[in-house]
Amino acid sequence: MSNLSLNCENLKSFISDQEVINLQAQVNLCHDQLEGGTGEGADYLGWLHLPSSIPDTNVAEIESTARSVRDLCEAFIVVGIGGSYLGSRAGISFLNSSFSNQFGRQGGPEIYFAGQNISSDYHADLFDLIAGRDVCLNVISKSGTTTEPAIAFRLLKEMVENKYGADGARDRIVVTTDSSQGALKSLANDLGYKTFVIPDDVGGRYSVLTPVGLFPMAVAGINIRELLEGARRGETIYSKPSLDQNDAYRYAVIRQLLYQKGKTTEILATFQPAFGYLAEWWKQLAGESEGKNLKGIFPASVGFTSDLHSMGQWIQEGNRNIFETFLTLEASRRQLKIPAFQNDADGLNYLAGETLDRVNEKAWLGTANAHKEGGVPNMTLKVKDRSPYSLGQLFYFFERAVAMTGCLNGVNPFDQPGVEFYKENMFKLLGKPGI
Ligand code: PA5
Repeated sequence: MSNLSLNCENLKSFISDQEVINLQAQVNLCHDQLEGGTGEGADYLGWLHLPSSIPDTNVAEIESTARSVRDLCEAFIVVGIGGSYLGSRAGISFLNSSFSNQFGRQGGPEIYFAGQNISSDYHADLFDLIAGRDVCLNVISKSGTTTEPAIAFRLLKEMVENKYGADGARDRIVVTTDSSQGALKSLANDLGYKTFVIPDDVGGRYSVLTPVGLFPMAVAGINIRELLEGARRGETIYSKPSLDQNDAYRYAVIRQLLYQKGKTTEILATFQPAFGYLAEWWKQLAGESEGKNLKGIFPASVGFTSDLHSMGQWIQEGNRNIFETFLTLEASRRQLKIPAFQNDADGLNYLAGETLDRVNEKAWLGTANAHKEGGVPNMTLKVKDRSPYSLGQLFYFFERAVAMTGCLNGVNPFDQPGVEFYKENMFKLLGKPGI
């Protein structure tokens, strides 16, 4: 059984069932290329059957290192950027309390992220915050040379060494990087740091189910076995070529059809703050995979109902080049009910006794219909619950769907050549030797 369901009711006036069916042959071709490793980017298909092939010993090693970190540290800093941090951040935000860092030791270490920007104030503020805490670090970089995390790691490594000495630092620094290459790998070898390997055939934005995502999530107390179980289920469901049986491919086809009709921006709209970083992870996955050769859907996101009071006007009546994917939750973990007021001063007594979930559901339905009437095609991907199992399926769903959309649109979804341009300019301006 799937913990995800895709509802396409609000697309009917924009695309027909026949248009979807017409793309089955192209889907078959792309599916065969993915499974057979015959398409572009075939060296980066390790994520495809990762959930079913990850050895138990790897999972056990991640769990046992995570237990040591949880015992040793009050603050755990994840140092990485892009695909090297967004997956774990998405998972932790989705599964843990909205305020987990405020719960103290009983909930495991506080978790912070560094190296995802070059802001002096951000990092200085982080230093202030962790000054009195026992600290562990996980620096994550596949290339081992990315500037932002490398700078943050220099700062944090120095801080940890000053505090605990080189030997103490060794117990507190975990490196996740390539199996054999890169500056970070050499440094870890030289200094004897514990290392986790990012498989050669898995690119950054597809790496959430490798130690890149799994280790920080395990430190955050997340049951990574259940997460992988859900991802395995996703792998089974979303590895079928038929559009009738595979909602990830159906979603990919719908995106491609809407794109061809001039709907060049997709807005991922959520109704739960817990989905906030999931949307960030999805934006990177879709944006970096699909936006190339002057093509690609621009992935945007909004958090409703909050953003209905900021972006709602634009979505309802602005330029009609958008479509929406609502990412919703079937049920919250806990139900709060709206209390009655004696004098009904705010006129809300008609809702007294209703759950917030029910009101939120009506907000979604009302919004989806209003936007459809306003000319915005939309669909809804509903997630059963906030469990690691559902999240594992969801991660896999989007990975499959984005890889399929990239292929349907004729781009290599596994490279990111455009990212180098800003780096070259920055390095020139900084006077990097040899540039
Ligand atoms: O998806 C990607 O490949 C990128 O977003 C990378 O994850 C990001 O640039 C970080 O790279 P690295 O892990 O090499 O530091």
